[in-house]
Parts: sequence; C-alpha cells; structure tokens
Amino acid sequence: MVKTFAVIGDPIEHSLSPSIHNAAFKALNLDCTYIAYRIPRGELGEGIESLRQIKISGFNVTIPHKIEMMQYLDEASPECKTIGATNTVSNENGRFVGYNTDMDGFLEPIKKRNIGISGESVLVLGSGGAARAIVAGFAKEKARKITIANRTENKARELSKFASSLGAESDHTTLNNVDTSKYKFIINATSVGLKNEPSPISTNSINSNHVVYDIIYMPMSTDFITQSKKNSATIIYGYEMLLGQAVLAFQIWHKTQAPYEAMKKVLLGGF
Ligand code: ATR
Repeated sequence: MVKTFAVIGDPIEHSLSPSIHNAAFKALNLDCTYIAYRIPRGELGEGIESLRQIKISGFNVTIPHKIEMMQYLDEASPECKTIGATNTVSNENGRFVGYNTDMDGFLEPIKKRNIGISGESVLVLGSGGAARAIVAGFAKEKARKITIANRTENKARELSKFASSLGAESDHTTLNNVDTSKYKFIINATSVGLKNEPSPISTNSINSNHVVYDIIYMPMSTDFITQSKKNSATIIYGYEMLLGQAVLAFQIWHKTQAPYEAMKKVLLGGF
C-alpha cells in the first residue's frame, strides 16, 4: 500500500519539501507520496485529527505550528523537548512521535566542511524558533560563547538565557550594536533577506576568518551572503540546512540512507 507523507503549515504552497521527498522516493523506487497540506493557525487540532484518520505515515511541521505541535504528540524526542518545538513527526503504530531535525540539519553542513565548533564564538542574529534550534545546536557542540543579536532586545535576552541554561557562555545585543570581529561563526536566523532586503548587520568587518551562514534559502543568495562572499568569508547557504533536515527526516521515516544527491539536484533545480 502506498504510504503518504506531508508537510503542514501556512503558507505552504511554496514549500520545497514535496519536491525533495518525492525525488527521494523516485530515486529509491519507494511506493510513497508526499504532499503539502495547508493548516491555518488556530486549526491545528482538527488538521492533526484528519492526518490520523488517513493514517499518515509521517509529516513535517513548519511555520506557524512547530511549537504548538508539541501538545499533539504522543511522545517527544529529547531534542524536541530541549528546543520546545518539532519539525518531524513519525506515525509509529498509531502513535505520533515528534523529532526535531532542524538542529542537526543546521549543523550538518558545518560538519561536512570539517569546521570545528568546540571552543569557538558564535553570533546568532534573530531570536525566533529557528534561532532557538541553532542555539541548541551550538551549545550541544560546545561553542565557547554564543551572542544573540535581535531587533527586539528582550527576546534576545530570553534566548541568551536559554543558551546559558544549556551550558554556554552567552550575552545579547541589538542588531545595530554587533561587533562581528569577535566571532568565528555569524548566522542569520532573522527573516531579513527573504524579500531581498539589505543585510541585517554591517558586513564591513567580515573577512576570510569568518564562517557566514544564512538560513534563508529563497533567495538562494541574500545580500548578507553576497557581501560576505565578496569579503572572502566561508559561506554556508540556507538550502544546505533545508537539505540537512530533510535527509534526517527521511532517515527517521524510512530507516535507510537518504539519496542526498537526488534530493540536492531537485532542490537546486527548483531555484
Ligand atoms: P522563525 O520561526 O523562522 O525563527 P520568527 O519566530 O517569526 O521566525 O522569527 C523571526 C526573526 O526575524 C525574529 O528574530 C525577528 O525579530 P523580532 O524578534 O524583533 O521580531 C526577526 N525579524 C523579522 N523581521 C525583521 C526586520 N525587519 N528587522 C530585523 N529583524 C527582523
């Protein structure tokens, strides 16, 4: 019987997850299908019930449901509990088990480049759900210091407390006051760039010692990335995190190695 998978969220029509997963099914000849299912804010309970009814095999969760979805899980992985959000749910004999592949999906392109995190300083721009998973990732990898910079300073303060609670040294500032020279990693986890806005921080002091990572994948190259690349920084693109989290979700659901190249090919073709 064909197994059905989905991504739920709103808006969902531009999600690249159906293309990525369907390409993987094709590459491995799996009798599976993956659809985008729009569930508006405030309708998550009914939406989840309908997924139970159709015996969905698994699904990804995106904006705005990653946090609220936690209360509909029958079981949550340790990562989910730490981050307080889920992006991947597996139907295990009728029980909805939540995972969070955003954190390790984010780390994967850094590890692939053999760039060490332990003992290094990190600047994270933004304080939303994505920034939280990233902070948990850097704390897990024993970054020495994590600075949070955000437009709204009290949200930066909250996220900085979270980083401290995970054992990292941490402080916070605003986007206007960051000093990029103090960090090895600079991560954009704000939504600035989605609409081709200029970089959220000055890139003047960014140089070849920096690793610059923007989690925005559409457009593929934001102004923050373009400017940092001109300054010879090591660049990591948002599509790499998107692929990283998809590969890990695939492996949870299918218990087999994901066809990375087929997934990457369809993703890059989609831009
Ligand atoms: P996600 O789940 O993708 O992290 P989010 O929770 O809505 O999304 O977080 C968006 C982040 O982008 C926040 O840090 C937000 O800053 P505020 O906390 O001040 O709202 C940041 N952001 C959004 N628009 C911004 C803008 N125009 N300038 C600076 N930061 C912005």
